[in-house]
Amino acid sequence: MTEIRDSQWEQLKKECLTCTRCALSGTRTQVVFGVGDPLSEVLFIGEGPGQEEDLRGEPFVGRAGQLLDVMLASVGLQRENIYIANIVKCRPPNNRDPLNIEQDACIGWLREQVKLIRPKIIVCLGRVAAMKIIRPDYKITAEHGRWVEKGGFWMTALYHPAFLLRDPRHKPDTFADMKSLEIKIREVCARTLPD
Ligand code: URA
Ligand code: SF4
Repeated sequence: MTEIRDSQWEQLKKECLTCTRCALSGTRTQVVFGVGDPLSEVLFIGEGPGQEEDLRGEPFVGRAGQLLDVMLASVGLQRENIYIANIVKCRPPNNRDPLNIEQDACIGWLREQVKLIRPKIIVCLGRVAAMKIIRPDYKITAEHGRWVEKGGFWMTALYHPAFLLRDPRHKPDTFADMKSLEIKIREVCARTLPD
C-alpha cells in the first residue's frame, strides 16, 4: 500500500470506529470495520455483524464464518488474500436484517473502503448485500453465481453461509459458485491466487 493510501485507510478506520450515524451505535459493543488485506483484489461483503462478531470486532467469526473459511479454502483462498466487510458495521439487535435506514446510513463507509481498496471483484454474501450492491430486485435463488460487470467491478453473489447452515441442500451450488469465482480471479486478478 502506498503510504498515502495507508494513512487514509487508518484515518477512515479511526473515524468509523466511533460512528453514530445510525441507531445501531446505541446497541453495539463495537464497530466491525472489516478484516483482511486492504490492498486485496477481491472484496467480500456480508450483511452485518452477529453476536460473536459484535464481541470480537471481526466479521464472520461465528459458525457462518467457519463455513465461509471452508468455502474460501475450497479454491485456495484465505482471509489474508481478500478483504471482508459488511453492509452495516454494527450488529442489528437479535440478528434481524438491517433496516434500509441503517444500510443507507452505513453504506458511505463501505464506499470509502471500496475507493481505497479498489478491488477487481466484489462478492456479495446473501440477499441483503446483493440487493444493496448489485440490484434492488436481485433474486439470489435464480441469480447466485452469475457475473455482472458494474461500475468497473466484476460482481457476483453467493448464498449467505448462515443460510447454508440452515439449508445445507444448497451447499453444492455454492461450491460450484466458488469454482466460478476461482476462474474469474484467474482471469482478472494478478496477485490473489498462486499460478
Ligand atoms: N453474517 C454476516 O453477514 N456478517 C458477519 O460478519 C457475520 C455473519
Ligand atoms: Fe455507523 Fe454503520 Fe454503525 Fe450505523 S451501523 S452506527 S452507520 S458504523
